[in-house]
Amino acid sequence: MTDSIKLSIYRRDPDLDTAPRYQTYEIQPEPGQTVLMALYHILDNVDKSIAFRASCRSAVCGSCGMHINGQNRLACETQLAPLGNEILIEPLPHLPVLKDLVVDMTAFWDKYEKVRPYLIAMKNPPEKERLQSPAQRKRIDEFIDCILCACCHSTCTLDAWSNDYLGPAALAKAYRFVADTRDEGGVERLKIVASEEGVFRCHTIFNCTEECPKKISPTFAIQEMKKKVLVAKFSGKM
Ligand code: FES
Repeated sequence: MTDSIKLSIYRRDPDLDTAPRYQTYEIQPEPGQTVLMALYHILDNVDKSIAFRASCRSAVCGSCGMHINGQNRLACETQLAPLGNEILIEPLPHLPVLKDLVVDMTAFWDKYEKVRPYLIAMKNPPEKERLQSPAQRKRIDEFIDCILCACCHSTCTLDAWSNDYLGPAALAKAYRFVADTRDEGGVERLKIVASEEGVFRCHTIFNCTEECPKKISPTFAIQEMKKKVLVAKFSGKM
């Protein structure tokens, strides 16, 4: 029989608790069990008061980002087995806690909205579709994979403390459109990322790239946009 494991979970209900506490639950792990499955097991069988977010259970929706054994990860794709017999589960760092593992994502979505995260197409629409070659699409593949889990947003030291800095998630999304051959946002889009809230505030620490569960590099996107902004400025377009 497999050894039991202890899950130490951050608990805080701001309406009831003056300070956070950690509650430990001992479970018998099943083969292939993920952290999310363990949380559902506790919710269904042990403690109905525990709060966490999840939806797809397959690393697609981005709801279940949390801090597991000191690293931001998706609970639904993180297996228990490699984590050892004592696992610490906390909410994403630096974000206001609504309850237990549920954080307030308002600032994250506000920043996301600022980069106009949609295709800007000003010319007359084509009869059928806006075509893109496989090579053109390949350049943005990585950034299309972003599931907006906020793992990068939460780990960026600047994003965490600044309400202004757009941060790695929003900037990576901006790059997804800056590098999209069908997008006509052009200089207007570059002006957003070149603002005081934008790319030049990144200190290139790479925390966002290290913590991304989808292996996306917001740092690369930010550096690419710095180059594009400089080219636009020196060629008199901005
Ligand atoms: S539950 Fe959707 S990403 Fe984990």
